[in-house]
Amino acid sequence: MGLDITPLHDEPLGALVRGWDPGQPLDAASRDRISAGLGDHLVLVFRGHRQPTDDELVRFAQSFGPLIKGSEWFRDAGERPEILPVTNAVGEDGIPLGTGGAGPLEWHADYSYVERPGKESFLNAVVLPPDAPCTYFCNQYDALTELPAAKVGEMRGLRAHHSLAEYVERGVNGDEHDLDTGFEAKRRRDEELGIDRPPIPEAEHPVVLTHPDTGREILYVSRGLTRRIMGMSRDDSNALLKEMHQHSTRPERIYAHRWEVGDLVVFDTLGALHRRDAWDPRGTRVMRQLSTSC
Ligand SMILES: [Fe+2]
Repeated sequence: MGLDITPLHDEPLGALVRGWDPGQPLDAASRDRISAGLGDHLVLVFRGHRQPTDDELVRFAQSFGPLIKGSEWFRDAGERPEILPVTNAVGEDGIPLGTGGAGPLEWHADYSYVERPGKESFLNAVVLPPDAPCTYFCNQYDALTELPAAKVGEMRGLRAHHSLAEYVERGVNGDEHDLDTGFEAKRRRDEELGIDRPPIPEAEHPVVLTHPDTGREILYVSRGLTRRIMGMSRDDSNALLKEMHQHSTRPERIYAHRWEVGDLVVFDTLGALHRRDAWDPRGTRVMRQLSTSC
């Protein structure tokens, strides 16, 4: 496959990829080029191809590793549970058709609350509202290397607890951070239908995480999902996390992606935190999301 990978002009990270044919299985050389591109740029924006089918999207993503079936935890599993529908669209029964609302989504690494967290993530724009929100990506390799050496030494021994529970509870209570406003309705629906789904997991990870493929170290905490540093008092943990959150998302390390329908953004979700703006909830946004697991 003749892939053309061009670094984004004047951005701290990211590259544009042209020449992807979703109808073709990914050959080993192209997969290796994409993996190398991710290592170099963290975020790859595939643009200009036809929209892949669900099966093509799954086939492409699983070229990079086993896929997490997060849609089962969120009770949004369709025929391809590897695909998480991320949308504010609501069905005729009043139950959201996917995960999330139109509120802002805080900085996070996908599936950091899972024992084997997300490694690569894939986000594809299917329907965008008129005021389509940006998705922001921030380099966490650089966040680590830009810390004083003594601080990195202190962080290397620490582990942190990651959980989505607060987001889901806030959504149920109608807070603006509505990661999943319909979760309780979906839970009741599934109960009536006799569908059993596993609970959303929680997990602990090192604060300085080593990427399993490249061996590079990452500052692995996020404002959205890291709830506590283990073995510290609540106050000390909150103070350290606040300090790390402020440091880890400094503006000079951020790329803001402006979506076009059909874009497929592939990113190193261990090494690049991301977040999303809010938008006018009267506009519908539909995305397909997939992640490989570590
Ligand atoms: Fe995400």
